Order: sequence, then C-alpha cells, then structure tokens
Amino acid sequence: MTEASEISSLAVVGLGYVGLPLAQEACRSGISVTGFDTKESVVSCLMNGESHVDDLDSTDIAGMLEAGFAASGDSACIGNADVIVICVPTPLDEDGSPDLGAVKAATRTVSEHLQPGSLVVLESTTYPGTTEDTVRPLLESGSGLTAGVDFNLAYSPERIDPGNPEWGLRNTPKIVGGLTADCTERAIQFYEQLVDTVVPTVGLREAEFAKLLENTYRHVNIALINEMAVFCHELGIDLWASIDAAETKPFGFQAFRPGPGIGGHCIPIDPNYLSWVAKRVGYRLRFVELAQEVSERMPAYVARRTQDALNRLKKPMNGSHIVLAGVTYKANVSDQRETPAKPLVAHLRRMGADVSFIDSHVDNFIVAGSEVPRILDIGEAARSADVVVLLQAHDEFLDSSELGEADCILDTSGKFTGDNVDRL
Ligand SMILES: NC(=O)c1ccc[n+]([C@@H]2O[C@H](COP(=O)([O-])OP(=O)(O)OC[C@H]3O[C@@H](n4cnc5c(N)ncnc54)[C@H](O)[C@@H]3O)[C@@H](O)[C@H]2O)c1
Repeated sequence: MTEASEISSLAVVGLGYVGLPLAQEACRSGISVTGFDTKESVVSCLMNGESHVDDLDSTDIAGMLEAGFAASGDSACIGNADVIVICVPTPLDEDGSPDLGAVKAATRTVSEHLQPGSLVVLESTTYPGTTEDTVRPLLESGSGLTAGVDFNLAYSPERIDPGNPEWGLRNTPKIVGGLTADCTERAIQFYEQLVDTVVPTVGLREAEFAKLLENTYRHVNIALINEMAVFCHELGIDLWASIDAAETKPFGFQAFRPGPGIGGHCIPIDPNYLSWVAKRVGYRLRFVELAQEVSERMPAYVARRTQDALNRLKKPMNGSHIVLAGVTYKANVSDQRETPAKPLVAHLRRMGADVSFIDSHVDNFIVAGSEVPRILDIGEAARSADVVVLLQAHDEFLDSSELGEADCILDTSGKFTGDNVDRL
C-alpha cells in the first residue's frame, strides 16, 4: 500500500437516514463529498435543496450544496474518491433471511470505480463476516485489486438515532474495524476527521458483531419490559412508577419503557441477522426469538386494552371511533417503517372499529391498501374519539392541552395522567 495521504474526498453510496448525515458531517469537516443513489427521487430532491430524512432540513441541504456536495444517479461520481462509504439498506427477504441484494449491488458498482490507495467502508448493518466474505471478493473481482494490499477495507457500524437532539454523528463514538491493521488505521484517520471519538476493534467481525449486540440487547430488554407491562397491569401495579424507582439505582440497571411494539429499520430487523447467522452454525438464539414473539404480540394487546377501555365506558368496539395519535415507529420522526401502528390498525379494524389517525409528521397512512382517515386538529381528534390511543408522544401532543380533554386516552407512552387516562 502507498503511504497514507491526507483524506480530502468522500463518496457516499446510499443517501438515506445513515448516508446523508455522514455526507453532511464530512462537508462540515471540509471534505469534498459526492453522493451516489440509485433512487432518482432522492437525487433530484437533494439537488433541489430538499431533505427526505428527519434529521436534516432544507437549510442543512443548502449548506451542503454550498460546500460543494453533489448527489448523482451516475456511479461515475464515485470517481477517484479517497474514501467510499456504503450505506445501503439491509432488509429481510420474504423468509425473514438477510437480504444483502443492495449491499452486493452497491459493492459491484464501487468495484468498477475502485482506485489503488482508496478506503472502502461498509456501514450497513449486517451479520459478522459480510465485509470479508461478501464485500471483499466482489470488490477484488470487479477491480482486479487486492484488499489490504492495493486498497483498504473496513466496517464501521452506524449508530445514528433519528430524532435524538442530544446524540448525533459527531458526539457518538464510532466503532471501526479493518481487514488489516493498516486498514483499521486508515479508517481511524478518516473518521477522526468527522467524529469526536473513534473506537477501533481488533477486526472486521468484531465491529460487525458490536452493532448486532447493541441492537439485540435493546430488542431483548424492550421485550422484557413489554412483558412486564402486561403482567403488571393484571396485578394492578403501576410499572411506570416502578421503573422510575428502579432507575434511581446508580449501577446495574438501565431503564427501558414499554410501548405498543417495536418498529423502525433496526430493532425488528437486525436481531434476525444474528439469529440467521447463528442457525448456520447450528445454534438457536432463543432470547432473540422470544423477544420477537413478545414484542409482536404488543399491537394485539393494545387493541385488547382499547376494547377494555371502551368496555368501561359501556361502549362496544364495533362502530366506535378510535383515534391513533402518532403512527410513526418512534416519537418526533416521520419514519413509518415497521411501525406497530399498522398491525394495530389491522386488529382494530377486524374488531369493527372506525379508525382515524393524527400525526403532523405523516400525510398518508395506508394499512393493507386502505387509507386511514387523517384528523388535522388535536382538539377535533380528542372530541371525536371514543378512545384516543397515544402511540408516539410527539412534542405536538405533549405541548398541547387539548389531547388530555378526550373522554378516554389509552397512553402507551406513560406521559399522561388523569381519570380519563389508562396507561399501558
Ligand atoms: N435508519 C437508521 O436509524 C439506521 C441506524 C443505524 C444503522 N442503519 C443501517 O444503515 C443502513 C442504511 O439504512 P438507512 O436507514 O440509511 O436506509 P435508507 O433506506 O434511508 O437509505 C438507503 C439509500 O440507499 C439507496 N440505495 C439502495 N440500493 C442502492 C445501491 N445499490 N446503490 C446506491 N444506493 C442505493 C436507497 O435508494 C436509499 O436512498 C441499513 O443497513 C440500516 O440497517 C440505519
């Protein structure tokens, strides 16, 4: 490998929730950034100065364009970049197995433009072994170059938490693992230009596994607390108060709070990558399977609790008006991916309810091909509902006193109190 030179150019492949903040931080650091995305609408939206992700707005995109950022659907833009970072989706296929289609396609594209001395980093969440066993051979065969000799190869999991005002790309420590010690060094050199703290691992697989470990830990703990919510309700225990009390322990306890089910692109998906790779070596990850099962039951449980709330009002579910407040997968974002609000709507509809939603982050909410009517005004939502089910405590609901005026609120976020409030 040639002497490590200054890193001055970056190509980001995949300009979504992960790729775009990375491109922004690199622009801020004075690096020349291009972005390649196969989705024409993403490219045109960005080049028109608009953002399609929650954490960046049009002012941010304007700042990036001013700093020289350009998005393109032509892979030639990857050109001679010093660093190429792949941030494409890693979903599940129809059998629930990892779908590395986008990673493989993006890697093949990168291989066509790879130059000696470049650093290629995979940031997409995946199972251990992907960078070495899938990405490396594709890069080598497409470019004729050898990883660790002619170019550097590393993995760095993204820890971005959309909507989190405190922890962003720069102040969240960044894990990096390289194919060789030199690859790790080069990746450290790159990320130190963007983030406050870089945490090297001993190799690629350890960096890949660290991400799955973090998300599986979260997945299992959310399921544990969801199961506690069901059980505490039966016993008449206020779980929210117990969590607040337990949280005062300065060591050995991390608070998780129950909710209507898991959603988003990470928690419901990533642990499946782990169980899939475990199955390949003949091991069943029972914790992961159990967590999946418990959390998948939550939307049905919330539907049943809605029915219980109506029952106390001497109303039937059939024909009642249920308003879902906040239908995204978490508070203060617009991302509907894997949102538990969708299975909940399906359960409520099957029980005969007339379901509407209110959410300033979501224009259209479609479940099983049928649009859920939208209510725009919080006061109207509260007045017209037999039960308001608060799924995500967006700021708009907390900042308004109107939602609290509903006859009945089933609050899955633990934020509301009062005689008309039934908490999960
Ligand atoms: N969203 C999060 O909060 C988050 C957090 C940590 C890690 N991750 C992981 O990061 C990866 C990317 O997630 P995301 O949320 O940014 O996805 P996203 O869907 O928001 O963005 C991915 C982008 O990649 C583009 N793309 C797909 N195939 C491509 C190809 N072959 N070449 C170029 N572009 C292509 C898509 O058009 C899309 O714009 C996933 O593995 C995900 O699990 C996501």
